[in-house]
Amino acid sequence: MKVAVFGLGYVGTVTAACLAAAGHDVWGVDVDTAKVEPIAQGHSPVVEPGLDDLVAAGATSGRLHATTDPRLALERADVSLICVGTPSTQAGSTDLTYIKRAVRDIAEAARFVVRPESGFHSIVIRSTVPPGTVDEVVAQVLADVPPPDGLTFGTAMCPEFLREGSGLADFYEPPFVVVGTRSPKVGTALTDLFAPVYKDNSLGVDVQIVDVRTAEALKYACNAFHATKVSFANEMGRIFRHFDVDSREVMKIFVQDTSLNISPYYLKPGFAFGGSCLPKDLRSVLHLARINDTELPMLAGTLATNERSVRDVVDRVIAGPGREIALLGLSFKHATDDLRESPNVELAERLIGKGYNLRIYDAIVNPGRLVGANLRHVTSKLPHLQRVLTDDPDAALAGADLAIVAATDRPAVEALLRTPPARTIDLSGRLGVDVEALPGYEGVGW
Ligand SMILES: NC(=O)c1ccc[n+]([C@@H]2O[C@H](COP(=O)([O-])OP(=O)(O)OC[C@H]3O[C@@H](n4cnc5c(N)ncnc54)[C@H](O)[C@@H]3O)[C@@H](O)[C@H]2O)c1
Repeated sequence: MKVAVFGLGYVGTVTAACLAAAGHDVWGVDVDTAKVEPIAQGHSPVVEPGLDDLVAAGATSGRLHATTDPRLALERADVSLICVGTPSTQAGSTDLTYIKRAVRDIAEAARFVVRPESGFHSIVIRSTVPPGTVDEVVAQVLADVPPPDGLTFGTAMCPEFLREGSGLADFYEPPFVVVGTRSPKVGTALTDLFAPVYKDNSLGVDVQIVDVRTAEALKYACNAFHATKVSFANEMGRIFRHFDVDSREVMKIFVQDTSLNISPYYLKPGFAFGGSCLPKDLRSVLHLARINDTELPMLAGTLATNERSVRDVVDRVIAGPGREIALLGLSFKHATDDLRESPNVELAERLIGKGYNLRIYDAIVNPGRLVGANLRHVTSKLPHLQRVLTDDPDAALAGADLAIVAATDRPAVEALLRTPPARTIDLSGRLGVDVEALPGYEGVGW
């Protein structure tokens, strides 16, 4: 394929050199001659292990070119990959000036060159951009500069996951190859583009075609998580240092738990955490920090964000109509009657406090059988639990304007399908497609 790569920084140069090595005819474009000239002379403009040799091989084979003229790159090209910078503005927003400029350069150049035989050109963003960029910003530029007769543009987001210092290795063995596009033709073009790159890949990478915004959001999710991991480990070190603990040893063992610690567990968007251990032990760690004059802003933020999860649902209820609410599910997780620090109890208390009429369904919780700390917790938070609690989901839903659903058991789901209220707020994300198709369905975070 003939590929144009816009932006010859770390991402663009690695991409261009690797695609050329895989046999494609690659044309790198940059507005900066300091990036273009070295490539034309067979050198990498950026320092990255192994890249100089790959650029030299590309230049020698005649498959890697660099230019400041988008027209040379666009002539008969099938795909443009945009790898320009997306720096932060002073306010922290993403500066999309270079993205807009590159898309405009492509659209304008396409008017002056010979079209690809297919009459189709894929414009693909590799840079990191906020959700909505392809649909709104890129689409707007292409509406301003439409393609010439006989040429159609398709767009996509294909985030790059390489890290500087191991750029080549990461390019060849990415965690995933994700293409966000609405155009099957772009999906096919990118599958063809990457096929020779990953043919010998030990991971056997498949191209996953997803919604455009999913692909845009994914890169931010990855980087936010990586940053969170670093800060978490640093906070563990900062607090346990005061207790003569070698946190390197703690974290070495910590990562051996691949069922709860390093795993998909606890990584599904939903409602607040609760129960008898997480809030209590998090408070203990924060207290240990306080008495040692140590700040743990990330862990403190974890408690704050948990509280925010409850408040957000209350705010959403208040913003909508109706006073009759069915809360399906009371304990903090499925198959337990432990109500200590259940965020659902907290939610119920706040809504009752604001004057809503609440009926609560729980398959397991039986107020007559609660004892000890569990009973004390409920009596202090929900003194009238006996009166509002039922083990019949239909009874809870009767006459409800709104259902807030934490329970995922079959009776709850079937009752919702039988008598759906005007509005359903799903806290679990596990109610199934039938419930999600109900009119008035809202996911708590999707
Ligand atoms: N650096 C990384 O490790 C990495 C990894 C993954 C994703 N990303 C993302 O990829 C994007 C690029 O990052 P980078 O580190 O390679 O940036 P960079 O600053 O090293 O390179 C960007 C290049 O784009 C060029 N450019 C700007 N406008 C242009 C235009 N209209 N036409 C052609 N070239 C143009 C600039 O001259 C520059 O050479 C960013 O969105 C970044 O967040 C970076």
